[in-house]
Amino acid sequence: MILNNIKVKNFRCLNNVNLDFNENLNIIVGNNGQGKTSLLESIYLLAFTKSHKTNFEREVIMTGCDFTTVNARISFLDKINDFGFVLTKKSKKAKINDIEQKKLSEYIGKINVVMFSPEDLKIIKGDPATKRKFVNLELGQTSPMYIYNLLLYKKILKQRNELLKKIQKKEINDFILLDVITEQLCDYASKIMVERETFIDKLNSIINGIHQKLTNNQEVIKIKYRKSYKDDMFQELKQKYKYDVIVGSTSLGPHRDDFIIFLNDEDISIYGSQGQQRTAILSIKLSLIEFIKTQTGEFPILLLDDVFSELDNFRLNSLVEYINRDIQTFVTTTDVSFINDELKERATLFQAEKGIIR
Ligand SMILES: Nc1ncnc2c1ncn2[C@@H]1O[C@H](COP(=O)(O)OP(=O)(O)O)[C@@H](O)[C@H]1O
Ligand SMILES: [Mg+2]
Repeated sequence: MILNNIKVKNFRCLNNVNLDFNENLNIIVGNNGQGKTSLLESIYLLAFTKSHKTNFEREVIMTGCDFTTVNARISFLDKINDFGFVLTKKSKKAKINDIEQKKLSEYIGKINVVMFSPEDLKIIKGDPATKRKFVNLELGQTSPMYIYNLLLYKKILKQRNELLKKIQKKEINDFILLDVITEQLCDYASKIMVERETFIDKLNSIINGIHQKLTNNQEVIKIKYRKSYKDDMFQELKQKYKYDVIVGSTSLGPHRDDFIIFLNDEDISIYGSQGQQRTAILSIKLSLIEFIKTQTGEFPILLLDDVFSELDNFRLNSLVEYINRDIQTFVTTTDVSFINDELKERATLFQAEKGIIR
């Protein structure tokens, strides 16, 4: 997948950017606060309709403006498509070749992106909600069905929680309705669970080859999917009706699942050193790249935000080995001397200054 051109308006400090990109490597150089991360974030937002930095997308709209737009021309499997995204304080709209995409669940995943950023440590050390968000986004990239099922699940979950609160306040006493909604919830839960399991299995089958190379065969890594219930979600929820009514919410299901990364059978978020955690993130991201390639037929666009200051030389070289393949890559850095000459020769250099990039 190649991002040929991007036009960004009113996005954080980027007032009006229009750039043609190199098919290989694009290096964005500039001091802090000049708009480098914002450019990568705008690509990420176009792909996922979400930001990697904030849960409140409207924050990316330039102060004093009502909306932001990102437009891009992208080649994928010998086809060229124009993508457009408009974000206002209240709404999101996506277009492909000027046709509005009514269902964002079908739009997400048309642009495949893998991002490395200083926020990544959250994948390991974050709370379960953060890790679920990561899995939902990454799995959603290759499965519109997953996003669709997740949306419906969330909708039914909301209905169920509203009903629980009504029973709690004695406004209603309909346990037959609760049974029906619980059953619907479980139907979607099982679809989500199966896809999560398959996804984690596939990542696990890729990740160790990569991780062993990064650690000289010293470490075995495994991602474990920790479900919030044992076997039969419906029966377990039924046993918890009383409890759920008291708390007014649904105590188990995919919205309570967790993902834990084990290194040599120990929880890396507790026992791993900072270096081990960084290597694990690198392994996870590199396996995502492979995963997306096997699912879609092409490599995703790679966004590397400030990795040159985050990674040591060994990890950096392993990453560069990947960049050297057919993957279009965007790199931000404050200091171009971090990047070796061989890479620079194939790259287009951009300068970021006060929200202007050229
Ligand atoms: N909504 C916004 N409107 C205007 N400026 C913003 C907004 N959000 C962030 N900024 C500014 O944009 C800049 C962020 O730049 P960033 O892309 O993170 O820089 P870099 O990655 O080059 O260090 C900061 O100076 C910040 O104050
Ligand atoms: Mg930055």
